Parts: sequence; structure tokens; C-alpha cells
Amino acid sequence: MSTLAFNAVEIAPRELKPSLLELDGISRASVEAHYKLYQGYVNKRNEILAKLAEVDLSAANQVYSEIRGLKVDLSFAVGGVKNHEIYFEHLGGDGGPAAGAIGALIERDFGSFDNWKTDLKATGMAGRGWAWTAYDWDEGRLANYIGDAQNTFPIWNAAPLVALDVYEHAYFLDYQTDRASYIDAFFRNLDWNVVNDWISSYGIRA
Ligand SMILES: [Fe+2]
Repeated sequence: MSTLAFNAVEIAPRELKPSLLELDGISRASVEAHYKLYQGYVNKRNEILAKLAEVDLSAANQVYSEIRGLKVDLSFAVGGVKNHEIYFEHLGGDGGPAAGAIGALIERDFGSFDNWKTDLKATGMAGRGWAWTAYDWDEGRLANYIGDAQNTFPIWNAAPLVALDVYEHAYFLDYQTDRASYIDAFFRNLDWNVVNDWISSYGIRA
């Protein structure tokens, strides 16, 4: 039997940083429930890859519709893993204006920290799932991108540095339908040191 067995490599969820349980304006209950969703995406990813590994390629043509379904679901699960890993990792800080390399990049590419914030907030209000600030390697600058789901709309060759989750599950417990107040709280909890570590490890130059 011919299969895609090499796919079945498992990953484990990252641990939740203790500082995430003491955020300003985003409750512990909300973060704990949200973290469970993230664990769910990790499990889903592992499950889908295990299924892909067992697909019998020698079966009839319908094997491709099975692979299609699994691969599309995989993009959603992997998106859910990656988006939430950025989200959880760069929260737990004191917010405030961006400092260091990210501060310089924001200033250069948006004109001011307030311009960046206004644009990302508007993108988050307009999106159905995500708003990201990413460094686009081809353009050599930062841009704010919109996402409706875990797997829409990724931009190739761009490294996400800020991931704002605007799915209802991120704020409904604390803010019901008041997404704007949740986004304000998100900004208050950003850890710019984490973002600056990514900039340095990726080799992004201001
Ligand atoms: Fe989420």
C-alpha cells in the first residue's frame, strides 16, 4: 500500500506563561478557555496528519477529494496553532508605546505609534478573526493585514510580529459584543520585548 506516512509527526502545545493569567482587562477564565481552544488546534493538526499518513494512494480517484478535505482542514488547524502561539507569547507585558527595534520600524513605516495602533485597531474591527502586523520581506516594511479565519488570508514571505485575535471567543466572556474595549486591553498587555526578540532572531533590520 502506498501512503503519505511521513506526514505523521506530532507536535505538543506550548505551555501557557503564568503572566497570561494576570492580564489587565482580559480575565483568567477567558485566557484559560482560549488556551484550551489552542490545545484543540494542536490536537486537530496531529489528528489530521495521522489520517493523511494512512490514506491509501493506490485507492480509486476519490482519494484526492479525501486528501483535499484533510489538507484544507490542516491549513485551518495549523493556522490556529501558529496564530495562537504568537498571540499568547507576546501578551503578558506592560503595553505602552513600542520600544526598541519594533518601535523604530513602526515609526518608520506608519509615521507614528498612534497611526499604527489606529490602523491595527481598525483592521481588527473590520476582520472576522485576526489582524496582524507583519514584516514583509519583499517590501522591506511592516504592514497590517486582515484575517477572517485561522487560514485566511496569509501573505507569503511576511513574518507576523503582532497577532490580534478578534474571534468572539477571545473577548465575549469579558466584553460581550464590545470588541473595541477588548482591543484596547490587548494593546495594554503587549510585551514588546518578546516582539523585539523575534525581530532580532529573524534578522529583521530597521
Ligand atoms: Fe483565538
